[in-house]
Amino acid sequence: MPAIHKLPEVLINQIAAGEVVERPASVLKELLENSLDAGSRAVEVALLQGGVKQLRISDDGCGIERDDLALALERHATSKIASLEDLEAVGTMGFRGEALAAIASVARTRVTSRATGAAHAWRVTEREREPVPAALNAGTVIEVEDLYYNTPARRKFLKSEGTEFGHCDDVFRRIALARPDVGFQLSHNGRVSLRLAAGDAQRRVREVLGDDFMAHCRAVTAESGALRLTGFAALPAYARANRDAQFFYVNGRFVRDKLIQHALREAYADILHGARHPAFVLFLDMDPAGVDVNVHPAKTEVRFREGRAIHQFVFHGLSRALAAPVQAAAVPPDASRAVEIPAYAGPTEQTRLAVEEPAAARFTWQGGAGASTPTAPRASHGAWSDAPPRAGGFPAAAMPPPALPDGAAGAPLGYAVGQIHGVYVLAQNAHGLVLVDMHAAHERILYEQLKHVLDGTPGVQRLLIPAVFNASRIELATAEEHAETLLRMGFDVAAAGPAELAVRSVPALLGRANVADLLHALLAELRDFPASEVIAARRNELLATMACHGAVRANRQLTLPEMNALLRDMEATERADQCNHGRPTWTQLSMTELDRLFMRGQ
Ligand SMILES: Nc1ncnc2c1ncn2[C@@H]1O[C@H](COP(=O)(O)OP(=O)(O)OP(=O)(O)O)[C@@H](O)[C@H]1O
Ligand SMILES: [Mg+2]
Repeated sequence: MPAIHKLPEVLINQIAAGEVVERPASVLKELLENSLDAGSRAVEVALLQGGVKQLRISDDGCGIERDDLALALERHATSKIASLEDLEAVGTMGFRGEALAAIASVARTRVTSRATGAAHAWRVTEREREPVPAALNAGTVIEVEDLYYNTPARRKFLKSEGTEFGHCDDVFRRIALARPDVGFQLSHNGRVSLRLAAGDAQRRVREVLGDDFMAHCRAVTAESGALRLTGFAALPAYARANRDAQFFYVNGRFVRDKLIQHALREAYADILHGARHPAFVLFLDMDPAGVDVNVHPAKTEVRFREGRAIHQFVFHGLSRALAAPVQAAAVPPDASRAVEIPAYAGPTEQTRLAVEEPAAARFTWQGGAGASTPTAPRASHGAWSDAPPRAGGFPAAAMPPPALPDGAAGAPLGYAVGQIHGVYVLAQNAHGLVLVDMHAAHERILYEQLKHVLDGTPGVQRLLIPAVFNASRIELATAEEHAETLLRMGFDVAAAGPAELAVRSVPALLGRANVADLLHALLAELRDFPASEVIAARRNELLATMACHGAVRANRQLTLPEMNALLRDMEATERADQCNHGRPTWTQLSMTELDRLFMRGQ
């Protein structure tokens, strides 16, 4: 073996560059972060050939003093920390003092800067470290050319111009999302591709992720002690086939962290279809002392001092926002076009009929049994309902109120006007037309209500005459093995013969379900599962099966009061915006969209 010797400075930097400068996009990340650390209000990026040929960034930050310029290109030279205490409470993006040194070791690099108060600017390059006078109004311009010109092995790993530009664009958006207070511009081969004016967070998110994202998302705000979670999370209707609309920041720094990813996935687990990926822009702000950002040179990994607490906080904060009933949605659909709902002019033919002849209703709305929606008592004249009929037997909330000064506040989903082909409910709200998939919506409501049932003692409905149906041998065995689980869910099931099962009670919420179908489905779910594990492990699948069977079927004629009761229940139910399979339960067609259909005002 040769003798041990010290490596030359340039080689040391090139080795470091292997970790920090993977491709043009990583150069861009480092330079953008430097500009932000310098307090810039406007940052301009110009790329040539995907950033490989040239990457130029100009800012209006504090600049670098003449005598510091050469130092800025040296390894382990930084203005951002001076001690271990500083490191542990670091508030800047950079602190390692190695990015510029690494970049300058693998690309031609030129730094021109004018420190605040300086008479003119100065310039250094990776070769010429003695500053020379230069012209620049303010701030700093850094030009990086011919990336990897001196390390051909690395250059080979660069991809096509389009791919490298794509990565640069990603990095640019990522950083721009976190700093809506700063103006940004990105251009490629002389053409501006993205221009973002300084503004507020919502505007920035809309400009970077688009109207579609904004229309499908919930505002998130959670706070606990020094922890704060803010931002926007899309509902499943906007879910993607990949992860590229996922932005999570810790103290303004974009990170990919296993613990956080797990918490986010859990928060979406209940509403998102398995193969889809959620979309979100979320900012976790916390005491910098509680998180270690010095885990990897690229700083996209972090280590939390209190991982469990952070996990819980993020999970609950996001779950709550996603579950919030409709009226809590903070991002109003097309608010500019909101219209007043005309004053109610007395019952229509149809509602009057329903008022006078409640018994004529073919379908009884009994979801919730009043418990979750104290303001919306509803008709309980169904043959199978346990709840005593209310005075008048008519749901108060189902009646359109005499006038609607503010339609959105009272009934976000509006008031029903009719039903289409026994599948969709049409309603009018402040923004226009609301379309509801009534089976999907009812299924979701039942699912949420059943959850509460499993957590406590189920409201049970005893059947006057037990429902007896044919069952296979395996079904009989399953029913026997899981008798206790079934009882906990509200089903009193026992063998009634060698090939028959008898059901004596069902959960009150499922009074309308076809008992035999429901039991066949449940027993199929329970089969092959140890009784001890079933409730814990399959709880949600069981609930989903029950909800699906209990929910109102298509082709059922609803009265207007029943439809309105459904709308009110949706508003009061957590996660009512999507069914258990992650499909939306309702959608809004705004007046603008309706107008567009008829080319009104064009
Ligand atoms: N755009 C800029 N405006 C003002 N000062 C800058 C700018 N870019 C770099 N500097 C100065 O140069 C120093 C070195 O930058 P460099 O990116 O190499 O290290 P750092 O940001 O301190 O740490 P890190 O390696 O973690 O990024 C910075 O500490 C800062 O003082
Ligand atoms: Mg830096």
